[in-house]
Amino acid sequence: MFSHSDSLSNIRLQYPNPNLSNKKNWPVTDNFDDFPRCRMVMGLPSSWCNFHSVPIIVQTSPAMVVKKKQMQRNSGSNILITGASSGIGRALAIRFAEPGVSLYLCARNLSALQNTSDACRNEGANVEIAQVDVRQNEAVKAWIDQIAEKTRIDLVIANAGVLGSHGEERCFEDTETAQLQIATNLGGSVNVVTSVVPHMQKQKGGQIALISSLSSLQPIADMPAYAASKAGLNAYGEAISFFLHADGIDVSVICPGFIKSPMAEKYASWRPLEMTADKAAARIKRAIARKRAFYAFPLALYAVILLGRLVPWRLRRLTTKGFNYQR
Ligand SMILES: NC(=O)c1ccc[n+]([C@@H]2O[C@H](COP(=O)([O-])OP(=O)(O)OC[C@H]3O[C@@H](n4cnc5c(N)ncnc54)[C@H](OP(=O)(O)O)[C@@H]3O)[C@@H](O)[C@H]2O)c1
Repeated sequence: MFSHSDSLSNIRLQYPNPNLSNKKNWPVTDNFDDFPRCRMVMGLPSSWCNFHSVPIIVQTSPAMVVKKKQMQRNSGSNILITGASSGIGRALAIRFAEPGVSLYLCARNLSALQNTSDACRNEGANVEIAQVDVRQNEAVKAWIDQIAEKTRIDLVIANAGVLGSHGEERCFEDTETAQLQIATNLGGSVNVVTSVVPHMQKQKGGQIALISSLSSLQPIADMPAYAASKAGLNAYGEAISFFLHADGIDVSVICPGFIKSPMAEKYASWRPLEMTADKAAARIKRAIARKRAFYAFPLALYAVILLGRLVPWRLRRLTTKGFNYQR
């Protein structure tokens, strides 16, 4: 038994239809998006699959292998990434960089952004950088409008984010620190989405990826505003994905766990299953290519969080004590 997300590069699926007694008439597809979350079962009787509405693997198709490899290569050739001067954003830019791809990167630190740009150009991509603070809606809109004037926008990754916490000696996280995180992580992503959607609607398609966090699902006591900003982003992403489906715009909400980056260095504590930004970028790129509406990783940490939700909150409170912001 294996899941939809495993490497099923050469299969087609037949979906049981209880109204059609002849199995040959059940619809066959190679479009995996038709079965976003279901598991596929090999070697089980078709009656069982019919009863459980489980698609059946019916044949291999070399064409599918090619199609899937193309999908994984790139989601489009004109890609915008915010917060590309460092960490995950930088790793994503380099991952997507290849000949034929145009990258439009923004952040506040121009020299660090230039550094990312050089690395992407080495991979053969065209790169344009811009000094944009995502909290400034006018600046975000101007940046996106001038790109849309000259080209189609295939993919936008709203990645820019900041992290804060409480102060020394139980001094509660101040208003400024909390608002900064909400304005950047949630407000900044909203600025990007609202600026790009009219263009994507006009061009009848596109993709939007929002970089959230696993802490949106299990808030950490040491970073309340951060968790709130990311939980808000999850809700925003889900709502717009429903709305924008009719316009041919796909939305992915991505929830990474602990990723090595300058931001992660702010935690003094244990960072279970931490992975490099490059490895995270590879996974995010794959999820975007597969048009996953929601993607949380690493899977083991995601599973622990989901199980943790079943535990009484007093117990859960104890588990979050191990996660300390560096003060
Ligand atoms: N690292 C983790 O463990 C982890 C886990 C889950 C989710 N995430 C999320 O992943 C994203 C990237 O984080 P990271 O770990 O790569 O952190 P990072 O290395 O600190 O990078 C953050 C990026 O966001 C940019 N940025 C911050 N404020 C901005 C603003 N107002 N306008 C424009 N750009 C801004 C920064 O560039 P400038 O400073 O140059 O503006 C930088 O490029 C964030 O949304 C974060 O919440 C991280």
